[in-house]
Amino acid sequence: MMTTKGVLKEKRQSAGQPMQIQEVFDLIHDDVKRMEEGFIQSLNSNVYLVSKVGTYILNSGGKRFRPMIFLLAARLCNYTGERHIPLAGVIEFIHTATLLHDDVVDNAALRRGNAAANTVWGDGASILVGDYLLSKAFSVAVMNGDTRVLNVLSQTTTRMAEGEVLQLMKHSDAATTEQEYLDVVINKTGVLLSAAARIAGVISGVGADKEAALASYGLGLGTAYQLMDDCLDYISTDEDLGKGVGNDLREGKVTMPLIHASRTATGAERALLKETIEADELTDERLAAVLEIIHKYKGIEYTIARAQNYIEDAKEDLALFEPDINKAALMAVADFVIERKY
Ligand code: IPE
Ligand code: IPE
Ligand code: MG
Ligand code: MG
Repeated sequence: MMTTKGVLKEKRQSAGQPMQIQEVFDLIHDDVKRMEEGFIQSLNSNVYLVSKVGTYILNSGGKRFRPMIFLLAARLCNYTGERHIPLAGVIEFIHTATLLHDDVVDNAALRRGNAAANTVWGDGASILVGDYLLSKAFSVAVMNGDTRVLNVLSQTTTRMAEGEVLQLMKHSDAATTEQEYLDVVINKTGVLLSAAARIAGVISGVGADKEAALASYGLGLGTAYQLMDDCLDYISTDEDLGKGVGNDLREGKVTMPLIHASRTATGAERALLKETIEADELTDERLAAVLEIIHKYKGIEYTIARAQNYIEDAKEDLALFEPDINKAALMAVADFVIERKY
């Protein structure tokens, strides 16, 4: 028998009202739990530091956003097998490996509300345990995927690495264009979300059209996700975000809010932006001055508007699928990307 809560939920959805994000979390809660149980086995290494650092980062409470997309997409595709649980773990492992590496490159102090692994065990340990997670991800994928899944995954990690290297090449470059920035964003973040959604279609055998639609949905979602992350880096707090706010500017990373502001800023303002991007140290006064310029030229609003465009397109990508609770959940997740504060 359906609970009162369940009846209310169905009523709301049939009235065309969007799902709440908590309802989405509830929908896949059991699958996420099973995925997390699988982490223990994957981190069971004889090398003490591997399990220590791996457990530290994986237990520190990420949003599990990528597995969430994958699991919902698998439900949307009526997947009935058992491979989705280990494959969800593969996707989270790839993501977590890139975070370990990213925090070394970005010289980050905070991650998921805790001291970043590189500040506890050093850069070397973070890089090497990141490599372990990536290798483990592929060995689990080999056991539970098929050639097509492996194809998508390997192309994805290649592009993610390209995205991070491209970003490194653009480091401290005040002349970075919107297109160059988007190339980085699509590669470093978009493609993994795209793969998560596509692979759900692949294992469910939904055919080329639906697979392509899911891949496009994931790409739009992932691109918007990073655009919003780059806003939050300027306007959130360390507590809300669980990582160091202002770190992009501190590390000379030129992102959309700043790119947009510098297009219309005065000569003097642009000089200040350039000098700050190139500087080795970032003072609080400088960060405040840059923020003022970003706000003056509506850099945050512009970035959110661009993210919203990607989200609207991503939602349209799902038109091929019949309406059901899983499609409603994927729509709600799309809105969550813009609304999230953490
Ligand atoms: C952080 O991703 C890196 C980005 C692509 C912005 P998340 O914000 O999903 O990080 P966790 O997994 O929840 O910690
Ligand atoms: C996302 O870029 C990096 C990855 C895709 C690993 P960021 O450098 O903005 O991510 P955060 O802010 O450190 O999580
Ligand atoms: Mg970073
Ligand atoms: Mg960031």
